[in-house]
Amino acid sequence: MKNKITKAIFPVAGLGTRFLPATKSVPKEIMTLVDRPLIQYAIDEARAAGIKEFVFVTSRGKSALEDYFDHAPELEAALRRSGKDELLEVLKSTNMESGAIAYVRQHRAMGLGHAVSCAKRFIGNEPFAVILPDDVIAAETPCLQQMVEAYAETGGCMVAAMEVPPEKASSYGVLDIKEDMGSIVSVKGMVEKPKAEDAPSNLAVIGRYILTPKVMNNLNKIDKGAGGEIQLTDAIAEEIRQGRDVFGYRFRGQRFDCGSKAGFLQATVAFGLAREDLRHELAAYLDEMVSLRKAAQ
Ligand code: G1P
Repeated sequence: MKNKITKAIFPVAGLGTRFLPATKSVPKEIMTLVDRPLIQYAIDEARAAGIKEFVFVTSRGKSALEDYFDHAPELEAALRRSGKDELLEVLKSTNMESGAIAYVRQHRAMGLGHAVSCAKRFIGNEPFAVILPDDVIAAETPCLQQMVEAYAETGGCMVAAMEVPPEKASSYGVLDIKEDMGSIVSVKGMVEKPKAEDAPSNLAVIGRYILTPKVMNNLNKIDKGAGGEIQLTDAIAEEIRQGRDVFGYRFRGQRFDCGSKAGFLQATVAFGLAREDLRHELAAYLDEMVSLRKAAQ
């Protein structure tokens, strides 16, 4: 029986410069897909996978994120008084139990690996999950839950993986495949943001990880990697070098890169169309836009 995964790290220290000026005063993770902030999707996915403790690695200017998960007594009282029970329930879904959520600051932007290592003391000697809220995954069974189920069979370290067009591989961590077993792939190497000609495959790492505590130790030892930053990919690759198992997991679902404007817009449309209360109006509008564009060509 593998250890249960009950802790997850959410690296949310990034400046979000790609979304300036919005991110001048609003953390990127608070930006909304339909009516819920990006971070809420990540938290819901973690909860569905059985996560009980949530560690946020933050930075200056992220206090809105901390407030978001606080109780809002005045707002709750106002909704109760006016009989808005449905909204009250929606609001309550954002509440976190006291003690379930911890914040740790990354003082300098030194890369994803460094951000994860900042949470070391909260993790202790247990395997843990990492969720990058920029990667939003629409799936019938939430992605991390799929991985927790697969991990129960494999152990080791596991990263979410997805085929990307070869010319895009250099934007990702890329897996060097040892054995391809379908949804699970055993891995013999991992490279962060390789040059197109050096990419070992086009199977890319997507922002969901299940990691052993050894990866934390590796993070303290490895040198700076791609982009002059401490890379999580390198600390996982170190596990392989030391003879331990690392797996890629081809999840079932659609991933949106909400770290890019185009990806965010696509996610907004997809999540809008998935909502019963919005589908009809949004689809009609999209149809109209498409016909107008066609007519103009
Ligand atoms: C990070 C990881 C990379 C991974 C990607 C997935 O990169 O370093 O290995 O493929 O997330 O979104 P970033 O997008 O933060 O540059």
